[in-house]
Amino acid sequence: MDNNTHKLVILVGSVREGRFGPVVARWMAEQADAYGGFEVEVVDLAAYDIPLALPAQSPKHAGDAYPRPSGMSGLTAALAAADAFVVVTPEYNHSYPASLKAAIDWHFTQWTAKPVAFVSYGGAAGGRHAVLHLENVLTELHAVTLRDGLAFPNYFTAWQDGRPLDPQVAGYAKALLDQLAWWTAVLRAGREAAPYPS
Ligand SMILES: Cc1cc2nc3c(=O)[nH]c(=O)nc-3n(C[C@H](O)[C@H](O)[C@H](O)COP(=O)(O)O)c2cc1C
Repeated sequence: MDNNTHKLVILVGSVREGRFGPVVARWMAEQADAYGGFEVEVVDLAAYDIPLALPAQSPKHAGDAYPRPSGMSGLTAALAAADAFVVVTPEYNHSYPASLKAAIDWHFTQWTAKPVAFVSYGGAAGGRHAVLHLENVLTELHAVTLRDGLAFPNYFTAWQDGRPLDPQVAGYAKALLDQLAWWTAVLRAGREAAPYPS
């Protein structure tokens, strides 16, 4: 990875049996690979041990000493190495899945001063309720959330064979990646210039 290539983690937020999340993440990874400038990794929360019971202290100040389960180490390493995130989330009861909240709560500094774009899907609202909640939560971790995301309403009719039917969507994805690439370069330069004063 050269200095102009940034590490992009695409996070699959749902872990439900029969979930649709990996389909959306794979498609988004294709868009990002084609866009260029990113080393893309799809990180699936279902692959890790993410207990609901947290340690006594907060991860905010514990640093590497935070006692995470060994089955979470790959997730922690991927989040720490990321220069940027795309969070792929469905909508569960007008919010995002508990699996995603648990993964977020086990970490803190791994998100700080890094950009986060959202790709959501669901029924009529296309997962926008989930994204509104995630924007609020990730701001607490000093992440920088992007205003413009991709939302797929009624994905069950709007997608076929692993892709959205609307031919305009690839253009929307490029617009999102333009903004994400801009923030990724700016924030990485900032993190390298000086520690973020959180
Ligand atoms: C517990 C639960 C709650 C849901 N609540 C909503 C909701 O509030 N709004 C919505 O648009 N879809 C809702 N759905 C439908 C999901 O958007 C749809 O099932 C989607 O496929 C879930 O993503 P997944 O397949 O990656 O788990 C809900 C689904 C589940 C399982």
